[in-house]
Amino acid sequence: VKPALLTPAPLRPPARRLLRSGLLEALATPHGVDRYLELLRGGRAPHDPRAEIVAVRRQSVGSVTLALRPNDRWRGFRAGQFVRLTVEIAGVRETRCYSPACGERVDGEIELTVKAHPAGKVSRYLNEHARPGMLVGCSEPEGEFVLPRQRPERLLLISGGSGITPMMSLLRTLRDEGHPSRVTFLHYARTKRHIPYRDELERIASSASNARLVLVCTREAGALKGHLSRRQLRQVAPDYARAHTYVCGPPSLIAAVRALWAEDGIEQPLWIESFLPPAFAAGGDGIPAHPDGSVYFARSGKRATNDGRCLLEQAEQAGLRPPFGCRMGICRMCTACKTAGSVRNALSGEISSGANEDIQICVSVPIGDVELTV
Ligand SMILES: Cc1cc2nc3c(=O)[nH]c(=O)nc-3n(C[C@H](O)[C@H](O)[C@H](O)COP(=O)(O)OP(=O)(O)OC[C@H]3O[C@@H](n4cnc5c(N)ncnc54)[C@H](O)[C@@H]3O)c2cc1C
Ligand code: FES
Repeated sequence: VKPALLTPAPLRPPARRLLRSGLLEALATPHGVDRYLELLRGGRAPHDPRAEIVAVRRQSVGSVTLALRPNDRWRGFRAGQFVRLTVEIAGVRETRCYSPACGERVDGEIELTVKAHPAGKVSRYLNEHARPGMLVGCSEPEGEFVLPRQRPERLLLISGGSGITPMMSLLRTLRDEGHPSRVTFLHYARTKRHIPYRDELERIASSASNARLVLVCTREAGALKGHLSRRQLRQVAPDYARAHTYVCGPPSLIAAVRALWAEDGIEQPLWIESFLPPAFAAGGDGIPAHPDGSVYFARSGKRATNDGRCLLEQAEQAGLRPPFGCRMGICRMCTACKTAGSVRNALSGEISSGANEDIQICVSVPIGDVELTV
């Protein structure tokens, strides 16, 4: 029997050596060797952290769930961490962070659920175009939003909207471990149809006596209504002050939890994950109200009047497209070299004044004249 014509032949040793040498990468520019490998062989690249989308399903309104099989460089993750996913849209590589929703399993697959934002580039692209067989860049996992190795006695998980993903990962991991202590999961969504994993959550809650699930639909009638309040918390988790609490959701939910925890003087650990970058505006958080000087983007030769916002936004305003991932100082995708001038880190307040320093431009606000290799 003759082999099918389109079946890719196995690579011979010299070809493998060529692949490893990086020479092919150079020859393959501008697409990169992985793109050619995808076209030629439908195969996975050996040297880049990448993943293949192996299944796509739509389980709730406005989101898509992707099963990904990472390549051999994947070493697993801890529940609650995130990965940087890279896709090519109209010839431009875009990277965003996503928190796997699966448990810390070892079968090598990860699951992401991506909510489509109406004005969002990557989330809409994935919702509309993700298909089995598609290759994406997938970084190693990062982040500290994880469970302590010694699991806490009481756990309270609070999420809203797409913030459900790291909570699913924590919950599934605890379920798989047979975690014996109490876990309360409080989730906010617009309607029931907007809640991914609802059936599974209800199954977990009905089969595990130590798990309590409370779904609050802010736009539907239900036992609990509206947004998070002390009254709600007392109903759902009367012992919330004694629980280790994990929160992920929209800024309003995070702000409400922070305020309540501060007012009640709660000392138990509170872990917070935000999917949205904070706004760094002139006049706030130690950023000068009347910025002066200019920003010189050396690679492109462009100069802009310093308007007091972070350097990433000022670069975009000047028509540049520096790479970014999280826009909040956690993924380091936006790192650039500051060759002259001073910047303030909007998160830590730290000022860096040396020449030739690597800075994260998404959280760096210029103080006076600054020069960057962007
Ligand atoms: C650590 C971390 C983990 C994350 N995990 C997930 C996850 O599991 N699932 C998931 O769906 N998203 C997750 N995100 C958010 C994700 O990284 C992207 O920000 C989101 O998909 C939007 O990207 P985009 O390219 O579509 O929007 P962009 O093109 O970058 O933004 C366009 C506009 O969309 C709006 N927008 C962007 N993000 C949000 C948001 N989160 N909420 C409201 N409006 C927004 C803003 O108005 C923004 O100006 C995570 C973010 C971080 C930092
Ligand atoms: S974009 Fe993630 S650190 Fe700047």
